[in-house]
Amino acid sequence: MGLRERDDLADLDGYHSAQVDVDVRLNTNESPYPPPGSWREALLEELARVPFHRYPDRDALALRSAIGELHGVGPEQVLAANGSNEILQCVCLAYGGRDRTAVVFEPTYRLHSHIARITGTTVVSGSRKPDFTVDVTEVRRVVGEAQPEIAFMCSPNNPTGRLEPPDVLEALIDVAPGLVVVDEAYGQFAPHSALELMAADQTLVVVRTFSKTWSMAAARLAYLLGPAAVVQTLEKVLLPYHLDAMKQAAGRLALRFGAEMEARVAQIVEERGRLAAALAELPVETWPSGANFILFRPQARAGDDVWQALLDRSVLVRNCVDWPGVEGCLRVTVGTPAENDAFLAALTGALA
Ligand SMILES: Cc1ncc(COP(=O)(O)O)c(C=O)c1O
Repeated sequence: MGLRERDDLADLDGYHSAQVDVDVRLNTNESPYPPPGSWREALLEELARVPFHRYPDRDALALRSAIGELHGVGPEQVLAANGSNEILQCVCLAYGGRDRTAVVFEPTYRLHSHIARITGTTVVSGSRKPDFTVDVTEVRRVVGEAQPEIAFMCSPNNPTGRLEPPDVLEALIDVAPGLVVVDEAYGQFAPHSALELMAADQTLVVVRTFSKTWSMAAARLAYLLGPAAVVQTLEKVLLPYHLDAMKQAAGRLALRFGAEMEARVAQIVEERGRLAAALAELPVETWPSGANFILFRPQARAGDDVWQALLDRSVLVRNCVDWPGVEGCLRVTVGTPAENDAFLAALTGALA
């Protein structure tokens, strides 16, 4: 008898992003800057004291308290896990599953529907308008019809960069019968946040990550903020001791460097403006971004050709040309000023 994969996994592809050795890597929306040197020193000092023969603090209480403090809530309203994707998986394990539904608004972060499907959750997709904004009427229609246990909204949205205005989120919270999950992986790059809508009696949860703003993609650490009852439910599906002691220390110490991180965010936001202005002068279509990346569609040349021509110039961007809803598009992460200059020079050459 052969191995029998689950039938519903047969059509699913894993998640892939090219990791190519290039001079300028602008394809995965990481921070272009490493964490501060003093964070690294503090971490090394603390690691020297980790009792490695013992399991870590299962509740990650010090880390969760520090994150809670940052947002003015207690640790009971914070769930920390190994990256946003693990948080999203917990949400689907706890609130999704067989005979349950999750709503997404496409085009959006692919892992929302992917993780939902992996957990056996039915996915219902609403559409964004051609300018990639979400229409309140569409929110009410899709959520009203699907009555989902989970409604995902990515804001700022990956891969489009669009930030959802408060009225869209308010409509979603109003009409959704279940959990509303706002993925704010890029939240700090935007002028407003769903956190402003969070109240104890609501079903809204907000997911944030250390991977982008906090320059810690290698650490795999993210968190969810939400009502204590939701956090308690999510804790039921976590594996025991899921957060290792090194990561708990890395995250806790990072939070001492808030001012440095904010300065980096400001720098990236400024560079995003410069990049957007330069792209506006080239034969590409672009959309406003509230994130640390910009989506663009070459007009005169096929996206695939432009992607390859950039790679030939040792610049790697994300190739989204065959992603449904953003056909023909490429996505560039905002890098250092020098990286952005290199990208613009390469793109100008690629489009010529
Ligand atoms: C919208 C969105 N959510 C979540 C993630 C994953 O973040 P993490 O590194 O915390 O797993 C990404 C990564 O690119 C993302 O774009």
